[in-house]
Amino acid sequence: MNVAVVGLGRMGAAIAARLLDRGFPLAVWNRTASRAQALEAEGARFAATPRDALAGTDIVITMLSDDDAARAVYLGDDGLCSAAARGRLFIEMSTLKPETVRALHDRLRGHGASMIDAPVSGTVAPAREGRLLALAGGDEADIHRAEPVLAALTRRVIHAGPAGQGALLKLAVNLPLAVYWQSLAESVAIGEAGGLDRKTIVETLADSAASLAVLDMKIPAVLGETAEVAFDLASMHKDLRLIAETAESLGVDVDAASAAFRAYGAAVDAGLGDDDAVAIVRHTELRQSER
Ligand SMILES: NC(=O)c1ccc[n+]([C@@H]2O[C@H](COP(=O)([O-])OP(=O)(O)OC[C@H]3O[C@@H](n4cnc5c(N)ncnc54)[C@H](OP(=O)(O)O)[C@@H]3O)[C@@H](O)[C@H]2O)c1
Repeated sequence: MNVAVVGLGRMGAAIAARLLDRGFPLAVWNRTASRAQALEAEGARFAATPRDALAGTDIVITMLSDDDAARAVYLGDDGLCSAAARGRLFIEMSTLKPETVRALHDRLRGHGASMIDAPVSGTVAPAREGRLLALAGGDEADIHRAEPVLAALTRRVIHAGPAGQGALLKLAVNLPLAVYWQSLAESVAIGEAGGLDRKTIVETLADSAASLAVLDMKIPAVLGETAEVAFDLASMHKDLRLIAETAESLGVDVDAASAAFRAYGAAVDAGLGDDDAVAIVRHTELRQSER
């Protein structure tokens, strides 16, 4: 089964490396070509355009930053949506708005191609090790067809419903995560303002009912011991925007997500967008020090 990976950012590059390890013949494309060099050295074919990546491929994975990037890659000049897409299966793994996913799905259908959305929970290391959780939307038969590739990348695939439902489920998962990091930031701020030690606060949280599966992993970042970026703060802000827009279209009030959207937006404005999302803790600390 020949696979193409389009979009070689943090996640796309990890996914492509994993597929190469598992023996899939691979084509890759990225807007910034230099990001493909390591994969080319490992045997991937670098395609000149997204459309060129379709040549000889059965399955195309896209992993792009946001809705605009996905529209550029699918619908732009030399994009994926064309007669050359016929017969291919697209696995859209980026975190996008459900309505964008459905529109791309319908466009591809019009070209005789198929698409599932399969955004993921899990970051770079799980991608590299095939331990992602995929949240899939689309036809059962298409998800079945994607199985060999999804099996190489994931520990589990949840079929959420028709096209776009994987994207919706992903937003539902990221909402509490974003709010959690913000509440952690405020928990640290209130504790430190009253004289508690940060290490004591986060280690107590990690051992309490207020813990979260990923908290242990993030303790070094909260304590300022590492600046490693797995999921950048600007992407979390983008996800909160998608959550707000989706909630509005569904007629749902999301007060906590709205507050988090403002907090992460202020952190982006303060220049922390390229840092890991957990830098929301540092932003709250900076605001506190300016009072
Ligand atoms: N990182 C995580 O832990 C994580 C986990 C789950 C889900 N996600 C989601 O997965 C997606 C990718 O995340 P990431 O962390 O891999 O992001 P990233 O490192 O910032 O990579 C973004 C990718 O999108 C490409 N891109 C951006 N704008 C483009 C445009 N206009 N045209 C063509 N390509 C464009 C970039 O190309 P260039 O190299 O040319 O800039 C790059 O390949 C996002 O939707 C994110 O929310 C991320």
